[in-house]
Formats: sequence, C-alpha cells, structure tokens
Amino acid sequence: MRAAVTAHKDFTIAEIDPRLYGSFIEHLGRAVYTGIYEPGHPTADAEGWRQDVIDLIRDIDVPITRYPGGNFVSAYNWEDGIGPKETRPVRLDLAWHTSESNQVGIHEFADWAEKAGTEMMLAVNLGSRGLDEARAFLEYVNHPGGSYWSDLRKQNGRDAPWGVKMWCLGNEMDGPWQIGQKTAAEYGRIAFETAKAMRAFDKSIELVVCGSSSPKMATYPEWEATVLDYTYDSVDYISLHMYFDDHEGNTANYLAQSARLDDYIATVAGVIKMTKTKKRSKRDVYISFDEWNVWYHSREQDRPVLEGKQGWPHAPALLEDIYDFADVLQVGCILNTFIRRSDVVKVGCLAQLVNVIAPIMTVPGGPAWRQTTYWPYLYASKYGRGTALNLAVDCPGYDTEFAKNVPYLDVSAVVDGDGVMTLFCVNRHQSDDMELAVSLQGFGQMTVLMDKVIAGHDPHAVNGPEGEPVAPVDGVGAAIANGVLTASLPPMSYRMIRLGA
Ligand code: AHR
Repeated sequence: MRAAVTAHKDFTIAEIDPRLYGSFIEHLGRAVYTGIYEPGHPTADAEGWRQDVIDLIRDIDVPITRYPGGNFVSAYNWEDGIGPKETRPVRLDLAWHTSESNQVGIHEFADWAEKAGTEMMLAVNLGSRGLDEARAFLEYVNHPGGSYWSDLRKQNGRDAPWGVKMWCLGNEMDGPWQIGQKTAAEYGRIAFETAKAMRAFDKSIELVVCGSSSPKMATYPEWEATVLDYTYDSVDYISLHMYFDDHEGNTANYLAQSARLDDYIATVAGVIKMTKTKKRSKRDVYISFDEWNVWYHSREQDRPVLEGKQGWPHAPALLEDIYDFADVLQVGCILNTFIRRSDVVKVGCLAQLVNVIAPIMTVPGGPAWRQTTYWPYLYASKYGRGTALNLAVDCPGYDTEFAKNVPYLDVSAVVDGDGVMTLFCVNRHQSDDMELAVSLQGFGQMTVLMDKVIAGHDPHAVNGPEGEPVAPVDGVGAAIANGVLTASLPPMSYRMIRLGA
C-alpha cells in the first residue's frame, strides 16, 4: 500500500504548548505509595522518592503533572496532608475504597515535582467541599506570607510560595461515581463563584473547568454548553477526559478510535466557539485534555477492591493495566490527534504516570520498568515540541462501526525552533507494508537525523520487570531524494523520523 504525504514548512496548524505532554499522579492504588514514594527503597532519597522512577520520568521530560486527583479529589481534605507526618489522619477514600495515610501531601508532592522536573497542576475539591476550601488552598500554596494560610505553610517548613499556575475546578463533576456529583447548572454556578474568588486572589492563574468525563455521557455535549454559559469569561480551559479500550478484541476498530477523539475535540471546540460568539467575548477558552489513556486490561482484577470486598486497603494494586504492543499504536494515534488539534488542545495529561494505567511501573523494593506505551509518549514529549504542520495525506482507509474511511496511515509532524522536522507515523494495517512518500516543501536540503521503529511484535506482547522486548529499534531504509522522503512502514508499526539540515 502507498501513502503520499505533503509537508510544507509554512503550512502550519499552531504552536504546540509543551504542556500538551503532561501527566497525572492521583492518590490511587500504587501511584504515590510504592510508586513515586517508597522510603527504604534502595534508590530512595532522604525524603523517600524513588530515584529510579524519577530518572525514567526525567527522560520523558514531563512538563506538568496534575495532582491529587481524579476521583480522589472530590472527597479530599488537603489540610490532612500538611503538618507533622505522625499526626496526619488516616482517612477512608470513598472514590477507590481504600485508606489514605496522608504521608504524602502538598509539601511532599511539591518537593517531588521539583526533583522530577515537572510543574504542578492542582485540583480543588468541588465535590464534598467548595469555594472556601479552594481559596484557602490557593492562599496556602501561592501567597508569600502575612496571612493565616501562608504563615501556616511557613510554619510547616516552606517559606517561599510555590506559585502554581494551573488549577482545576473539581474533577468529572458530571459523573454519577463522583462524590458530590452535580448537574451542569449546579456545577456551572459553583465553578463560576469559585473562579471568581480564586481570581480575586490572583488574576494570573489559569483555571480549568470540568467538561464531560467522556463523550459517552448522556449529558454530553449539553454539559459543556451549560457549564461554559456560566463560566466562559472566568476560565481558561475546559477539561475533557477519554479512555480507550479493546474489550471486544477487534484490533481494526480499536486502532480507529482516535477518530472518536477527533470528533470529541471538534464538537467541544464548536461549543467553545458558539459560547464565545453568544457572549460577544474577546477571550479564548481552550481544551485541557487532562485525562487520556488506554484503560481496560485491569478492569476485572480491580473489582474486589472497588466493590469493597477487601475492606479499606492502603495503596493496593489498582488500575495496573499491563500494556501491549497494540497499545503503542493506540497511544501513538492519540498523541498524533492532539498534535493535529494543537490549535485548540493546549494541555494534555496522560493518565497516569506511575503504576496506575501508567507508562512506568514499579516492583515494591525492586526495579522500575517501562511499559510498551512509554515510548510513543517519550518521543512525542521530547521531539513533538514546536509548530505542528498541516499535512496533506493521501492514503487508503477502512470503515469501522463508528467512522468511515479511517486512513491506514496516522501521521503528524512538528517543526522545532532549529528547523528539525519530526514525523510521527502509525501504520494501522494489520498485514500490509506501507510505502510512505513525504514530499518536503520549503525546507531546503534535509537528511535523516534519527529514525526509530516499534514493529514486528505480537499485538499482545508486553513488557515486564524481567524484560522489555517491546522497545524501539533503529529504522532502516529511510532516504531522501529530490525532496521526497521515502520509508517503508511494516504492518502495525510505529515509526518516528527526524529530519534536519
Ligand atoms: O484516571 C483514573 C480515573 O479516571 C480518575 O480518577 C477519574 O477522574 C477518571 O474517571
């Protein structure tokens, strides 16, 4: 099969916000305890942070990390996580039916974020709590001193404010599973008032209002329209969440699901535009896609804990999806979609970062290891920064139950400040090679600088602590002649090619 792509240096989509490649750490399962935090682990520093995990995160260069939830935040008291560790209360976490020791709170997370080289994105509890808690938390985190909450922070050992820029106004408030679920109007009002109070403290913070927790919600997209009607001029982003699964075992359908993602983004972009016009507003609201990933492998094994059959365990294994080779392609297609919609999707958070539906896994007391999906995430984060190109793609496609003519080639391209162009390609075809030809226009002379391929595995092949067979290898055969890059993409393959002068 042939795929023809045209890339012109000046035919661009948008400048990519580096925060498109963010991630997420929730107090859920083993993300925090025995994930990033394990005092006594051979690699742990004096504060208990696993260095082996930090090293893997630093390699990805995660620009921003959302915290502390997720569903967890909707019944969380952030004050439980401050002050001497020995006096912090153990609480029952109603979201995941577990116990929370509060040994990690905002001070500890901020310390970890600094060491991991990532910015914090904090969520406030608009489920069981509200405006007052949100403004107190903001003052505690961002005020220099001379007020009750900021002085308490100083007493607790942190003199300088952390200056956190991005704040989420609750989490998935449309979900019946949420503690304190709200109707769109109820949420729109509380989000508006909370935003008003938070902005009264600091106009420069960036606020994220909850959109739908999934396009499958019966309330979608009316939810977005109502919530934005209340909040449009008070917020900067609307959050979207989407998880992908192949519970049917239908690889062709599975790999086409980014078409649904595209549709989701386009619809919400339309609602944003409609609201802006209706309000005669001068400002723009963008999308913060602050939860996305593949999530289905662990659903059955999680049931006993989630149904409360194991009491209230502390940091049990939950949502520990073991990703396979097919998931590499899925994550590659999702990231490509975000790059192609970087005009409207400014922030993205891979949910999550360690142990919980994560690219990085740990063995308590043992090694940290890379899941299959670590690689497309790493490549996008490292090499997908700059300007997204608007490519013309000519390639055969296939029909699924939910989308027609999904191209076998999924591709995006980014040009960085040095003029280096990176192409991210996925061949969705399960049996055919794809002969790719990319016409390079306006770039001048280019050569292949880097070429990485993940291919040739059984779709269900996985990595583990004993070995990581699903990993990139150097690509062969990519060549440029007469301004055309040619390369062969094996069936079901991920390939990243970097071109420069
Ligand atoms: O990321 C796992 C969970 O998925 C989050 O806690 C919640 O926001 C979503 O439903």
